[in-house]
Amino acid sequence: MRPIILDVDTGNDDAVAIAMAVGASGLDVLGCTTALGNLTLSQTTDNTLRTLDALGRSDVPVYAGRAKPLVPRPYPFAPGRSSGLMHEATLPLAAAGRGAAHEGAVDWIVSTLRAATEPITIVAVAPLTNIAAAVIAAPDIVEHVDELVIMGGGHEFGNRTPAAEFNIYADPTAADVVFQAGFERTVVMPLDATHDVVMDRAMLERLDALGTPGGSTVAAVLDFYITGHDLTHPMEQAASAPVHDALCIAYLMDPEVVELRHVHASVDTTSFHNYGRTTVDVNQRLDAEPNIWWAFSADQARFDRALLSSLQSASSNEGPGKK
Ligand code: RIB
Ligand code: CA
Repeated sequence: MRPIILDVDTGNDDAVAIAMAVGASGLDVLGCTTALGNLTLSQTTDNTLRTLDALGRSDVPVYAGRAKPLVPRPYPFAPGRSSGLMHEATLPLAAAGRGAAHEGAVDWIVSTLRAATEPITIVAVAPLTNIAAAVIAAPDIVEHVDELVIMGGGHEFGNRTPAAEFNIYADPTAADVVFQAGFERTVVMPLDATHDVVMDRAMLERLDALGTPGGSTVAAVLDFYITGHDLTHPMEQAASAPVHDALCIAYLMDPEVVELRHVHASVDTTSFHNYGRTTVDVNQRLDAEPNIWWAFSADQARFDRALLSSLQSASSNEGPGKK
């Protein structure tokens, strides 16, 4: 079993990533840490607790993270088109039967990694504030991470501004710190790849028909998201949406789901129009070592196989010591 830490800003597609992670037979979710992002910190924390309860995995601890970006923003948020249309403040799931742990996310990440007897994988599908704060507090923790998988960025385009993807735009300084932190292997699932794999309502019906906690939970949360995405950022296929965060888990289950290239990537933390842009040196114009494994495309059929296999198992109901 591969131990993973999931950093989330739950949100609809985060909920899918959580459902896949607890359902995937080869993954062991040590805990979820929550960040400000899609919603306020208390909302993302509550939605994460609701999701784990719905999956029958109330044994997975949840640690609330930072409520503000790493540094004050030099510019106000650009007026966006999607706010309030992609992620409901409260997921349509039963109220959580527990609260978050008392320990803060950053402290827990540091203590868990330092105590690790085997390498741990971090899956970061939220603004990178918690991960950056942990690395700043304890730079040595990178030695305990075999792979950092990030949903964020975009080489060809942005989704929060023309230049920037949402997670990076929410805290560009944190992303810059993490991109340069020297993790052994940093894999980025940017919009270039996540937009290649969409989910539609036919898939939601298939998942609901599985009759498993994972299938029912995902079917319950994605309808709103598909409507909102279709309204504000329509994909080629009508009434479909890219489930960005889920691709990170599909990658852990099947690395061939994406096409990766080792490149140098950096984050714009200063300009106005390009604030939060990820710049990928695809033609090696700079004399700079590659620091990121960047996913330039993804395979829908492989994604669907990973999605279905992780959600069809009833193992979401099994607690620690999953077989
Ligand atoms: O741009 C997509 C990312 O922003 C996803 O992680 C989504 O959940 C939001 O956080
Ligand atoms: Ca997210």
